[in-house]
Amino acid sequence: MIKDTATSLKNLPEFNPVSEEGFKDPALICQRARKEQPVFFYEPLGVWIVTRRDDIERVLTEWETFSSVANSPDVPANFVDRFPQEVMSRMVTAMDPPDHTQARRVLQSSFVKSKLDPLAPIIEARAHEIIDEILADPKTDRTNFEIMDTYCLNLTTKTLMALMDLPDEERPIFEQARDDAILILAQTREPFPEPAQSKLWERYISDNEYFRKYVEARRDSDAHDIISTCASARKPDGSPALSTERIAMHLIEIAFAGTDTTAQAMANAITFLSDKPDYVKEALADPLLWSNVFEETVRRRPSAPFAGRITTKDVELSGVQIPEGQAIWVALASANTDPAHTKCPMNFDIHRENGADHLAFTKGRHTCLGAPLARLQGPIGLRVLYERLPELQMIVDQPLDFADVVLLPIRQSLLVKW
Ligand code: HEM
Repeated sequence: MIKDTATSLKNLPEFNPVSEEGFKDPALICQRARKEQPVFFYEPLGVWIVTRRDDIERVLTEWETFSSVANSPDVPANFVDRFPQEVMSRMVTAMDPPDHTQARRVLQSSFVKSKLDPLAPIIEARAHEIIDEILADPKTDRTNFEIMDTYCLNLTTKTLMALMDLPDEERPIFEQARDDAILILAQTREPFPEPAQSKLWERYISDNEYFRKYVEARRDSDAHDIISTCASARKPDGSPALSTERIAMHLIEIAFAGTDTTAQAMANAITFLSDKPDYVKEALADPLLWSNVFEETVRRRPSAPFAGRITTKDVELSGVQIPEGQAIWVALASANTDPAHTKCPMNFDIHRENGADHLAFTKGRHTCLGAPLARLQGPIGLRVLYERLPELQMIVDQPLDFADVVLLPIRQSLLVKW
């Protein structure tokens, strides 16, 4: 076992994912807990937090004991006739086998490497186009420029809309669906007060209707876009593999999961590289290193700091007894920086051996479906950005701007200069 020689425990911050420290560095707020009390009940959220890599791997792989079924929100009573709970409970992140296996089979065929690899030159061209537009815009301020929305999220959103074969002019509704998806997911633990809750569910239903229209239209399509692939999938008896509203719901899940996460990773890489100008020079000289930059970024700061499960029976983790029916959050940022598994885990080091040995995409049956796309797009997006703007630096001392959603505290803006 590798000994942790890091900062003394008393100087480390308390576990609080929505504190300033928690937003700045989710791994840091887990360090003390991992040593002192690696599994504990976190009162403010009513969930058990698990911080050690070994325990986290167990939770992620033993799905019969640590179920995903509670990961969907309750549809409010006044909306259930328009959006039934049976549908909502079948979010892909919220099912166990066999239901999960069936949905996953349908969705997975869009994310195989052989379909994604040909996208590399397209993503690269798109990245250049976005930067051309930024540089040509007279309003662009090179001393204070917001890059999260304009570049990172813009690139991933354009790519996903193209993969779904959706027209550019429908971007506002796609973006609405993308942004509502995380708010809906957050309702599982953090319901909104009225009237915000009803407004959100109204929008969510219209987002679902938007995608349903495309699913219906592409039921018999032999095209390769994500919507056609899902809509045309059939059961052995020839009937549709999944209902229209289910596919629409999964597409909304993907609209978020496939855009924000990779965009967060690119922005986080910018924050790390701003302290490591030599890494930028090295990667510009050896472009294969952009994959290491991406991988090390998601290890050190996973885009999703937690993944949730529920216990199906009484269990023991690191000597702590957890009763049946309890919500568990595994701290992925903590698993990835556990000194029992990773040497000098808090360092950002793009030359690690086994740099992809982390849990940012989790493990087991729910392992991120889009990881091959993220691993393709993230490094390309970073490479093009730094090839075009090699002097790019994050602006120090900018206000923290994170969405106040504990499960996924999304960075909403990042100011840079070049
Ligand atoms: C840096 C980028 C990304 C990260 C860090 C990431 C991370 C994650 C995490 C933590 C989960 C939860 C797994 C669990 O509960 O065990 C997940 C699931 C998922 N991700 Fe990603 N993701 C990324 C990119 C993408 C992309 C690009 C797509 C699709 C275009 C995508 C689609 C999905 C889907 C559909 C699931 C649900 C899988 C299931 O429950 O079976 N993700 N991802």
